[in-house]
Amino acid sequence: EQLPPHVMVLFGATGDLAARKLFPGFYHLAAAGRMPEDFRIIGSGRHSPGTDEEFRDQVREGLQDTVEDLDEDVARVLLERISFQTSDADDGSDLAAAVRACEEELGDDVRRLVYLSVPPSAMQGMVAMLGREQLTERARLVLEKPFGLDLESARELDAALKDVVDEDQVFRIDHFLGKEAVQNILALRFANGLFEPAWNRHSIASVQIDVPEDLGMEGRGSFYESTGCLRDMISTHLCQLLGFVALEDPEHFTADAVRDAKHAVFEAMRPLDPARVVYGQYDGYRDEDDVADDSEVETFVAIEAFVDNDRWRDVPFYLRTGKRLAKGDRVITLRFRGSACTMFDDEPTDRPPNDLVLELTDDPRIHVEMRAKKPGPDMDLVEATMHLDVGDAAPDATPLEAYERLLLDVLRGEQTLFTRADEVDRLWQVCEPVLQSPPEVQSYEPGSWGPEAALAMPPGGWQLRG
Ligand code: BG6
Repeated sequence: EQLPPHVMVLFGATGDLAARKLFPGFYHLAAAGRMPEDFRIIGSGRHSPGTDEEFRDQVREGLQDTVEDLDEDVARVLLERISFQTSDADDGSDLAAAVRACEEELGDDVRRLVYLSVPPSAMQGMVAMLGREQLTERARLVLEKPFGLDLESARELDAALKDVVDEDQVFRIDHFLGKEAVQNILALRFANGLFEPAWNRHSIASVQIDVPEDLGMEGRGSFYESTGCLRDMISTHLCQLLGFVALEDPEHFTADAVRDAKHAVFEAMRPLDPARVVYGQYDGYRDEDDVADDSEVETFVAIEAFVDNDRWRDVPFYLRTGKRLAKGDRVITLRFRGSACTMFDDEPTDRPPNDLVLELTDDPRIHVEMRAKKPGPDMDLVEATMHLDVGDAAPDATPLEAYERLLLDVLRGEQTLFTRADEVDRLWQVCEPVLQSPPEVQSYEPGSWGPEAALAMPPGGWQLRG
């Protein structure tokens, strides 16, 4: 598939995300022959990184740090198409001129891709500037989360967007949806007859969506001070995962179908009860760079959520994530109810025997915890595990990294894996009670599993523990 020429503008081009994910993503797409037939990338921001040559050197260093076996020819194709132009929300005229100059070089039918990797406080002003400079024409806008900081600011941002573009030009990125393992949830559920009949409150006792991180701030203290863990992870990534686990059969893998189905889940989600939310902050967070000495910002959140529809009524969903925890991992666990048969009633167990665990690893892995008969003369039971490793099934497949997949989808104009305005609006409504009356922040030891109060939240405990 040959994509038309593109001029791409990257706000936040000297930032961490650009260095770790976006430029490497473009590099990998170029290496795989998936970039448009020709393109230009204009980095932009308030502060110039120096000459174009110096900016390219900086990008090259980033690539050398992140890409294994960097192919110099591919890197050159990318680097010679990169330049930098300063701009800010008040003045984008030089940037607009630079975009038009690149378009002249590329010929007719040039598309624009504008990537806004900027903090929520800066987003709205940038969107208005793009409109004033008419940079929104023929453009797709990619927005990094969080989309606003609460319901009110999200609605203002949305209104600002609607002033200058149509919804089919807006790509709200949630990179968890670009992960193979997350898309595989749809295949697991809807391409198989095995699980779907049991994928409901009659068979499932509870669900866990658990994304502990062992990393700390990594230089993002000031971003965290203005967002916190609820906005950084829960109202976005973890709720989106909940959407994929809980949705009804979308029938088609199309932007409208998948997002309608996900939106219906969020509509049915009960607004969060602050009494069932635990906020934590790791000891030492206040000593991080750009963090206030008396900061009350949460670096850990655990919540109990409910989806009040026929499929999920009264099934608790436990969502947990935090920084500087015991382990970096990402799992979704469906905890099935115990057997209704009486034969093994006397066997002691601290929780129902069957956890279906979806490991959100690059090569999706799934396992089911089971009870089986222990080989031997007596009818004793043993705990056993059933494993599925998707990578083994398709050893020749070439998985795409999440950002890479989503960048490609933007270039193709494919919105299925991007979040829609109505989803974002509803998720802010769901989170609003906690933003209005946040629970007190409890401290926790780095390297632990977070505050005590969160440990006992799911009946039978967390699947990931000790
Ligand atoms: C980002 C958050 O969106 O996702 C980070 O801002 C978080 O705080 C990261 O660490 C986790 O992503 P991944 O792909 O490493 O699981």
